[in-house]
Amino acid sequence: PQSNIARIGIVTVSDRASRGEYEDRGGPAIQDYLSEILTSDWLPVARVIPDELQTITKTLKELCDQEQCCLIVTTGGTGPAKRDITPEATLAVSEKEMPGFGELMRKVSLEKVPTAILSRQTAVIRGGTLIINLPGQPKAIQECLDAVFPAIPYCIDLLE
Ligand code: MTE
Repeated sequence: PQSNIARIGIVTVSDRASRGEYEDRGGPAIQDYLSEILTSDWLPVARVIPDELQTITKTLKELCDQEQCCLIVTTGGTGPAKRDITPEATLAVSEKEMPGFGELMRKVSLEKVPTAILSRQTAVIRGGTLIINLPGQPKAIQECLDAVFPAIPYCIDLLE
């Protein structure tokens, strides 16, 4: 779709939220954060999907290549549990790794909780899209976005 309005993908990766077993709180937390901080018009493109490698890579490719999102933020699936594979799916669609995002988010999170070391979140570039992984907890979403947000518009500008 051709449009001047920035499209931003918000992808919740959660088996239970995708089955409707509980309400997705991560996606709405990201949407609220962006609504507060962004000054120009933007359009959320939201998805709630299970922790399945194929589904995650398909969704990320669709939001990059068809929906032409300039930014995709994921939440969930970054931990060490067997089903947590969001970073692997993100790397599978990557053209360029941006390891600084994960490093900074873990650093600020470690100041709050020692278990932040368990988060394997990363960031990559695919075409004109920056993809960033956030942890699943809504509180962690705000902490992590506060840390990395200043670099995001500059990074996206460099992709054009
Ligand atoms: N980061 C912050 N800021 N706050 C947290 O509570 N929890 C950690 C980590 N990062 C946490 C955090 C824990 S316990 C895990 S297992 C992973 O994020 C979970 O990531 P996930 O929910 O995406 O699987």
